[in-house]
Amino acid sequence: MLIPLILSGGSGTRLWPVSRKNLPKQFLSLTSDDTLFQQTVKRSLLLPDSAAPIVVASDEHRFLAAEQLQELKVSGASILLEPMARNTAPAIAVGALQAIARDPDAVLLVLPSDHLIGDDALFAGAVAHALPLARDGWLVTFGIRPDRAETGFGYIQRGEVLGDHAFRINQFVEKPQLDVAERYVASNNFDWNSGMFMFRASRYLEELGTHAPAMLDAARAAFESANTDLDFVRLDAHAFSAAPSDSIDYAVMEKTTRAAVVPVSCGWSDVGSWEALWLSTERDANDNRLEGDVIALDTRSSLVRSHDRHLVATVGLDNIVVVTTPDATLVARRDASQDVKKIVDALKAAD
Ligand code: GDD
Ligand code: MG
Repeated sequence: MLIPLILSGGSGTRLWPVSRKNLPKQFLSLTSDDTLFQQTVKRSLLLPDSAAPIVVASDEHRFLAAEQLQELKVSGASILLEPMARNTAPAIAVGALQAIARDPDAVLLVLPSDHLIGDDALFAGAVAHALPLARDGWLVTFGIRPDRAETGFGYIQRGEVLGDHAFRINQFVEKPQLDVAERYVASNNFDWNSGMFMFRASRYLEELGTHAPAMLDAARAAFESANTDLDFVRLDAHAFSAAPSDSIDYAVMEKTTRAAVVPVSCGWSDVGSWEALWLSTERDANDNRLEGDVIALDTRSSLVRSHDRHLVATVGLDNIVVVTTPDATLVARRDASQDVKKIVDALKAAD
């Protein structure tokens, strides 16, 4: 059984002020009528033989997740609720335990809920290529050809060929320093990690048992003492809080010796920042993305987004992001928009 595991617990801080704690970016409609979460669910339902998804989300977003699934008329989904965020490695662990409860041989397709994919058919093709490897015990990643030295991604060095569509991973390096990322991109031998993974649920737990046994124990205890309430599986707070906070990338992928990469070019984008959103969506003749009530004179290579009927007018801008919401406005250099996260950190500190 192929089970999509949709990770929806992130906070999307770099898309502030639109993405907020109570309404993070995966639950927003940024590029189409469907939210990023809904686009992910729909994409997973298009895959041949895929079962109802398992969603792992924060307890505070339970109604967002449930309502957005309901709008798509998805039935049979499991919604696991985390009492606190412990990053992706424990989230995938509890998802894997839920999958095994459905089918001990389940293969998981781990999907972040906040990515854009331009070509669903090419994505489905890559999943089909990954499936036999995953069944065979490999931890499969999906590699994207890098076009810049982005430091917010994992980098995957291709090793020996595994069949027609995959490579063994020689080295997996999560979020390298800029000079290292530049070297990797120049070498032409590295892919970006797309953040989507495929493996047998039991293999993931086995790897976690080797590389992060305390995390596995905490996830297991939280799952075994979970409370089922309506459609929700509420993980036990005391047990889950004991899990060290870490991502799958650091906790497992950098350490395992059985990882493979299936290269995929399906118009993938991690909508990680305003810059990424600008890069991945259509722009006008002046290279601008203008949304809402906007007048842009002598403005180029910029993203300007107004809220509702609040008019935003710009003159003489180049490489700038302007985003308004009812209670906050962001003005930033577009190529510095990764640092928007620092604003959120500063606001939290001031709280
Ligand atoms: N349930 C749950 N709980 N989900 C989480 C949590 C959590 O504590 N933390 C993050 N997520 C979700 C996010 O919502 C997102 O969909 C996904 O897991 C990945 O988390 P990010 O925080 O966005 O990771 P990243 O972007 O820094 O890095 C990952 O993705 C890159 C590609 O976008 C890594 O896998 C990188 O290697 C990769 O290049
Ligand atoms: Mg991300």
